[in-house]
Amino acid sequence: TNPIIHKATVSAPTNIACIKYWGKADSHYNTPINDSLSLTLDQSDLRAVTSASASLAFDKDRLWLNGSEEVGAASSRRFRACVDGVRALATEKIDPDTKEVIVSKDDWKKMHVYIASYNTFPTAAGLASSAAGYAALVAALVELFGAKESYPGEFTAIARQGSGSACRSLYGGFVAWRAGGEKSDWSDSIAEQVADEAHWGEVRAVICVVSDAKKETSSTAGMSTSVATSELLAFRAKEVVSKRMKIIEEAIKAKDFEAFGKVTMMDSNQFHATCLDTYPPIFYMNDVSRSIVQLVHRYNDWAGEIRAAYTFDAGPNAVLYTLDKHVIELLALVLKYYPCESEDLMGDYVNNKDMVSKA
Ligand code: PMV
Repeated sequence: TNPIIHKATVSAPTNIACIKYWGKADSHYNTPINDSLSLTLDQSDLRAVTSASASLAFDKDRLWLNGSEEVGAASSRRFRACVDGVRALATEKIDPDTKEVIVSKDDWKKMHVYIASYNTFPTAAGLASSAAGYAALVAALVELFGAKESYPGEFTAIARQGSGSACRSLYGGFVAWRAGGEKSDWSDSIAEQVADEAHWGEVRAVICVVSDAKKETSSTAGMSTSVATSELLAFRAKEVVSKRMKIIEEAIKAKDFEAFGKVTMMDSNQFHATCLDTYPPIFYMNDVSRSIVQLVHRYNDWAGEIRAAYTFDAGPNAVLYTLDKHVIELLALVLKYYPCESEDLMGDYVNNKDMVSKA
């Protein structure tokens, strides 16, 4: 008889940080030198969909990304940390009708896993980053193994070992990643929901794809050079971020877009300033990115209030946060200065709600 294949499929959206994570405190545990805060995008195309299967019939762990097998990836440290971390929290699987144990905790340990994941957005665009991928991996494994946390946030501590920013995608809404470091095993470096997705549903993210080229400097490599060389980064982690975390958490609670937008833009600028302060410097933004920064400031000046806030991650693409009531105005402005080449695409931007992600 063929052994049974157990399977779970989940999807996880990406998140875009307002207060940036940049710099590792401990490369083994993959923990940050400062707190960070992001918004998990909802109803968006920027998702990873992942199926995790386990069976006694599988002879080794295997991983497929966007349809092709990543040979050897299943033995990478990041992948192992997620699979072994979640499996250690597995519970026995019980037949709902007969109440018999179908899979014991020991059986789970004997099984190999097959993971198949795809991004609903071109991976090369550098937007549906590793955050969605590792969050979906961990969530699929949690479902597959019926895993239970031994302390709140434990799953986020596991996802963080796949990719730092992934820990924030396990929750919806506004999510903080507390740097931790009081505990020697870094079990306090976890993500925590600051406000759920219903709290400030008027917030929207407009994604402006400036370039879909793959980024030149990976975040891991960039962070390590920045930590080693940038005095500005050390100052930021010590003196700046905790103040900004307070400001942004209060702004979110009070739904104060003026304060939220200002600190978001300032933090994006400081992150890219630390990249410039890295030696040799790292340039993620390009001329088009910088022209978007200027456009947003001119728009806000014209409006006499902050209606849009830009933020850029490790690449040239802009994410513009705004409120529902300003989305059409902002899109009209963006399309005026950055017209789409094909009318079809223009139609897509205006009609496809997914291009404007509701928070
Ligand atoms: O999670 P990583 O290692 O891909 O790093 C993400 C870094 C930024 O996206 C630039 C900032 C952040 O907080 O998401």
